[in-house]
Amino acid sequence: MEPKIFLIYSFLIFGYIQAEDDVNNKAFPDDFLFGTATASYQVEGAWNEDGKGENIWDRLTHTRSSLISDGSTGDVACDSYHKYKEDVALVKELGSQHYRFSLSWSRILPNGTADVVNLAGVTYYRNLIKELKDNNIEPLVTLYHWDLPQVFQDQGGWPDEFIVDKFADYARVCFELFGSDVKYWLTFNEPKQTCLGGYADGSKAPALQNPGVAEYKCTHNVLKSHAKAWHIYDQEFRATQNGKVSITIDTSWYEPDSNSAQDEEATERKRMFEFGWYIHPIFIGDYPEVMKTRIAARSTAEGLSESRLPTFTSEEVAYIRGTHDFLGLNTYSTSMVKAIDDLPIGQTSFYNDVSVNEYQRSDWETAASGWLKIVPWGMRKLLNWISKTFNDPPILITENGVSDYGDVDDTVRVNYYRDYLSNVRSAMEDGANVIGYTAWSLMDNFEWYAGYTEKFGLYKVDFNSPNRTRTPKTSAAYYKKVIQTRCLVDSCV
Ligand code: NOJ
Repeated sequence: MEPKIFLIYSFLIFGYIQAEDDVNNKAFPDDFLFGTATASYQVEGAWNEDGKGENIWDRLTHTRSSLISDGSTGDVACDSYHKYKEDVALVKELGSQHYRFSLSWSRILPNGTADVVNLAGVTYYRNLIKELKDNNIEPLVTLYHWDLPQVFQDQGGWPDEFIVDKFADYARVCFELFGSDVKYWLTFNEPKQTCLGGYADGSKAPALQNPGVAEYKCTHNVLKSHAKAWHIYDQEFRATQNGKVSITIDTSWYEPDSNSAQDEEATERKRMFEFGWYIHPIFIGDYPEVMKTRIAARSTAEGLSESRLPTFTSEEVAYIRGTHDFLGLNTYSTSMVKAIDDLPIGQTSFYNDVSVNEYQRSDWETAASGWLKIVPWGMRKLLNWISKTFNDPPILITENGVSDYGDVDDTVRVNYYRDYLSNVRSAMEDGANVIGYTAWSLMDNFEWYAGYTEKFGLYKVDFNSPNRTRTPKTSAAYYKKVIQTRCLVDSCV
């Protein structure tokens, strides 16, 4: 295709092509929050210190190291358990308004249950929160970022309903212990990864594979747990603590392969399965209709007497609906979607239930993680779609970023942040109510099955040094300037 025709074609299909000249030059509003994020297992280390209990990532990395690409563990990770003051100094150096981190359930409650509270674990988080507050940094706290106490996995984990009350007890303990200083809570980080990865395709701890069944049961319990925690906060803590509680849901943007009715419909179905699965029950009520009808029909065809998608009673629908004070959104990439014939009845899985052809274009750039194609315009489309479909919620982007192999001169990351933030700013001009942005990640850390081979940090961490020395990358300087000037280019209007 002629280059010029290709450009016009791309403009029509994708909206526009990102180039430096296209970077949005409107300043971000003064009250827009800029921050960075980490998660307990990925940075803390001290896996068995001071009374911490074992969690599912401890167990997985210690017993199935072949699943981790470099065979590594989070036993020491960034050693943030001992170096939290340095971490806060880095956040401060960037000028971030908030720092998102997660609590390790088994560090606070070593047996998982609320009858034994580990004072050393509580002290660690109290110190971290105090250090943040003393430096005028708002803590944004995730209760669950994938590290279930192993003892609860031994009893069945998230697909088993007993977990709902256990999570609710844990949430209450955290609100009680830390709530006077925490104004933003997230119950779950990316529950789809917990459920699909943990129990269906085995790509996350506990690495079980019961596809087409366990991910739906898991999600059912996660949604109930989230709602219960929100109601506990609402009834017992909101009046005195005055904070906000929500959930962080992850999705890519899904773009139709063509504007045919079939591709458009398949794409919207994909969005509803991937994102609607969680946001719909919480923001609208119950699972999306398309999930209910498709999974029920396929279950019947499989000879089952009831749908593999569990059903909420009308009381449960009402209990879960409205349990949000904002929306936490994690997003990194985009996929194309093409309609296909429904996949044959037989092997059950979430992906067979959706039945679409999902792919990423080979001309999209990628740096380290194979799944993370760099497609900045997907951010704008996603924010606009969420606003339109789910009644314009206040959106706090709780993660966005890119991986590479750890170079301090990380131009790929600078460009990624610039171009994705540009699309955030444009979506705000379109009318999306985006209240903040959180870069993943403050520093290089344990990237799950990729171990330490893929790096997401604004700061490099030397994992060969016992000091775990932190060094700013070029992207840290860029992000700092953006936070300071509220502007992505040299000067804004
Ligand atoms: C999502 C997860 O929340 C985080 O733990 C992970 O490191 C990043 N995305 C990058 O994959």
